[in-house]
Amino acid sequence: MTIEPYQWAVRCPETEAKLAIRGLSKTFGTGAEAVHALVPLDLMVADGDFLCVVGPSGCGKTTLLNLVAGFETPSTGTVRLDGKDISGPGAERGVVFQQGALFNWMNVLENVAFGPRACGESKALAHRKALATLDMVGLKDFALKYPYQLSGGMQQRVGIARALTNDPQVLLMDEPFAALDQQTRETLLAEIRQLWQRTGKTILWITHSIEEALFLATHIVVMSPRPGRVRAAFRSRFNESKDPLITVAPDFVEAKRQIIHLLGQDANKEEV
Ligand SMILES: Nc1ncnc2c1ncn2[C@@H]1O[C@H](COP(=O)(O)OP(=O)(O)OP(=O)(O)O)[C@@H](O)[C@H]1O
Ligand SMILES: [Mg+2]
Repeated sequence: MTIEPYQWAVRCPETEAKLAIRGLSKTFGTGAEAVHALVPLDLMVADGDFLCVVGPSGCGKTTLLNLVAGFETPSTGTVRLDGKDISGPGAERGVVFQQGALFNWMNVLENVAFGPRACGESKALAHRKALATLDMVGLKDFALKYPYQLSGGMQQRVGIARALTNDPQVLLMDEPFAALDQQTRETLLAEIRQLWQRTGKTILWITHSIEEALFLATHIVVMSPRPGRVRAAFRSRFNESKDPLITVAPDFVEAKRQIIHLLGQDANKEEV
């Protein structure tokens, strides 16, 4: 197994892309204070892709995710979902944050039912949907607990259940497991991979971890330091492997080395 470069901007025709990102840039502030977080970026994501974005701290990964989520507005360019411009948050995009995004005053069931309730669904139906997704992430028995009564890993599972309850077309995940211990992370990564295999959802996953990207992704975009641009992109097939020790297999380690090398080259360059 190996990773192969692919042309991220022409991954698929724009008319067929699940997510079509065209000329997307973001500058925060103006004049001497301006921070160019993302320079114009083209990126096509096909239906069912598991796209991982890796890159150094501050290269614009969260900015990219926030633009796709509709939490930020672009300075230039567009993001289209199934051909329609994104102009704000929407139920067809489920977002999972790094941590701490649960409502502490609501129990698990209410947290997970929040999305459907906000979309105007009845309490009974929203709770039914919430219980079904809690079942999917193995937390049905914890529905009436409050977030503080759960471990960090369980809280992240609730976050995932919440993002899934509206049955979104795209999942947007910003380092969702970064704050967890290694063992919990590995368990949840395997679960996410299964969830993707089962549901075929399109996933945009932000991470610092090259290993995580290789384990999960169908496609990996490597970004360069600020201002964020795509440095390289790879088609990856390690996520098809059934080998429980895949992350220490020689070809996996070689792929990791290639990406580390790319990021290392950038680390020596001056900021533009
Ligand atoms: N709301 C904001 N106002 C001003 N500058 C911002 C804002 N959000 C992000 N930035 C700047 O944009 C750049 C990119 O930030 P971003 O959070 O997207 O990076 P990142 O790749 O997610 O980093 P990390 O890996 O540390 O999470 C940074 O220089 C940051 O200071
Ligand atoms: Mg970030």
